Amino acid sequence: MLEVEGLTVNYGGIQAVKGLNFHVNEGELVCLIGCNGAGKTTTLKALAGLLPFEAHHMYFDHGKLDLQHMQAHERLPAGLALVPEGRGVFKRMSIEENLELGAFHQPDKLAQETLVQVYDTFPRLKERRLQKAGTLSGGEQQMLAIGRALMGRPKMLLLDEPSMGLAPLMVEKIFTVIEKVFKQGTTILLVEQNAHIALEIGNRGYVVDSGLVEFEGFAADLLHDPRVREAYLGDESSSARDVNASA
Ligand SMILES: Nc1ncnc2c1ncn2[C@@H]1O[C@H](COP(=O)(O)OP(=O)(O)OP(=O)(O)O)[C@@H](O)[C@H]1O
Ligand SMILES: [Mg+2]
Repeated sequence: MLEVEGLTVNYGGIQAVKGLNFHVNEGELVCLIGCNGAGKTTTLKALAGLLPFEAHHMYFDHGKLDLQHMQAHERLPAGLALVPEGRGVFKRMSIEENLELGAFHQPDKLAQETLVQVYDTFPRLKERRLQKAGTLSGGEQQMLAIGRALMGRPKMLLLDEPSMGLAPLMVEKIFTVIEKVFKQGTTILLVEQNAHIALEIGNRGYVVDSGLVEFEGFAADLLHDPRVREAYLGDESSSARDVNASA
């Protein structure tokens, strides 16, 4: 679904991403984990066409679309949607107006059908559909950001730190929704500081350090890898979910 080889991104003279290689197969949920400043957000922004970048090879949709030669606004109609770090909702607009923007490229009838589906997934958004997005809680804004991306009926979602700043109960809720969207058939690339919960629902993961893939593997193996446990999970890592039950 997505193939990336030799991705580099520079900010002025500073190279933030230094030749990243990774891929995501159709139907997979792949995690990118790494410390602050590792280059995760920069990678997703490059995929979304929001930053200038260079790559040896960067193709989407089974080699059909060369992301190096597509504008940012062409990605959503092609099936690639970013849910940005910090959510990026339009605060003065209502929930419904935010959602409608996510389907700007769709015919009205399809957009209306998708809106019904998104409201089914997020009943909380439906209840508050006329409320200004800026007055929503952090968790509700995250739901809105995911819902807006789903309005474009994407083949693949790029999720940047969906759990950031949320209380544990809301993190659980957001991840339950992500898992549901994934099981309904959307391929996902997930950047997450909460490595434990991400690797529990993911198929594979890449550990990124200083703009390079340090190592990679199946999510279940990474969860037990001493290097990951030490750096990203803490020795006594645990979460609300039972690793053995979900394996
Ligand atoms: N607009 C910018 N201008 C200059 N440098 C930047 C800019 N954005 C990011 N950087 C630098 O690029 C590097 C990678 O940043 P990035 O935001 O991709 O990290 P990250 O892995 O997403 O970190 P975090 O976990 O904190 O979100 C960092 O050293 C950061 O300081
Ligand atoms: Mg980031």
